[in-house]
Amino acid sequence: MPAFRAALLYFQPDLQAVYEPDGLLVTAPNEHGIEVVQAVGSWASLKASFGHLPVQHLSGRLLAPGFVDLHLHYPQVDVIGSPAEGLLPWLENYTFVQEARFTDPLHARAVAEFFLDELQRHGVTTALSFCSSHPSSVHALFEASEQRGLRIIAGKCLMDRHAPDGVRDHTEQSLEDTEALIQRWHGRGRLGYAITPRFVPTCSDAQLAGAGELARRYPDVWVQSHVAENKDEIAWVKALHPQARSYLAVYERFGLLRPRSIYAHCIHLDDTDRALLRDTGAAAAVSPTSNLFLGSGFFDYAAAERVGHLYGLASDVGGGTSFSPFHTMMAAYYVGREGQTKPGLSLTPAQLWAQHTAGAARALGLEGVVGNLLPGCEADFLVLNPAATPLLARKTAAASNLDELLFSLIVLGDDRVVERTVLAGQPGRGLAQP
Ligand code: GUN
Ligand code: ZN
Repeated sequence: MPAFRAALLYFQPDLQAVYEPDGLLVTAPNEHGIEVVQAVGSWASLKASFGHLPVQHLSGRLLAPGFVDLHLHYPQVDVIGSPAEGLLPWLENYTFVQEARFTDPLHARAVAEFFLDELQRHGVTTALSFCSSHPSSVHALFEASEQRGLRIIAGKCLMDRHAPDGVRDHTEQSLEDTEALIQRWHGRGRLGYAITPRFVPTCSDAQLAGAGELARRYPDVWVQSHVAENKDEIAWVKALHPQARSYLAVYERFGLLRPRSIYAHCIHLDDTDRALLRDTGAAAAVSPTSNLFLGSGFFDYAAAERVGHLYGLASDVGGGTSFSPFHTMMAAYYVGREGQTKPGLSLTPAQLWAQHTAGAARALGLEGVVGNLLPGCEADFLVLNPAATPLLARKTAAASNLDELLFSLIVLGDDRVVERTVLAGQPGRGLAQP
């Protein structure tokens, strides 16, 4: 049983942060052979039971759960930083152009490897990703993820209208491909499948209905899509579905709101929509760097808390500007200060961290599986170096409480802080570790 002695950060079931300045983390294989947390707590309380094990003493380091990225697009690695007036021209001028390249399986595999390297380097151990509309792009991502032991949930993008040649798919074939991909990949090792209608404007009613039917027949498969990101997008959906009460209600009509369904953005919702998310168990993936970059708007944390629906943080690469969970948490903090229905609300650093770990895992229906270090959780954890840069060393040494420590990491941190990314007990394979 491997045991690690260092400072520890993890979360109670109510998402309150726990910090142990001198902690012990012990892992062991579970009945399926997956390395999970066996014990976590202070060194003082655990040394009698586990002190006899060979303990790796990681002095000056902080062990924390691997980050969970609730929404991003692996085929958009080369789209990051492409400026546009807003979402729709950005899709047309940059995104669809890059995604069309994923018809080539060699390109897809090369980008998949690069993408997974980035996730690991930045400390992301679970991610929910779009693929392109080409089934081979899904194979490329899952094959590469399986070799590394990352927990990746992904799916073939469904888009049978209002999209150019090269990325547009065919209704019947797209649904057959989706079912074949579910059967091949869902539940294989740590991999999961997500039924992936891109968004209402690019999916015919027949395609949305077929996606909803698959969601009904495969209840433990995930669903991912976009909703209420941009005003022009919303006007387009209104024109396509004039009878619908709202954009989100279109997904409801097609049976696409349920637990394990994750909707990116959820910016321009009303409280009826938020209650619909809450009552169906669907979750919002909040992508502040993307929303700021594309000028989409501000997620309303105060309203989400008031109504009480699930949500968590996401990079939304390539609309998002960074793979770094530190950058995403920082942007979420800015948005939490401004653009709220309840002015002045600000998120604490522990809340931000929870939204990118245990809270995001809960949104995925993976509470107690990933995103935390409570006993039974898969041993996905990070060895963080709070002194990774001179300024971080100076700031974190002066921190007198957990909020100050976490704020220093969020404001000043990036991939340099992530010294090691451990995946189910294995220091990330396929990536050089220091
Ligand atoms: N809406 C539909 N497709 C996309 C996408 O690729 N990125 C973002 N940010 N929004 C979308
Ligand atoms: Zn997206």
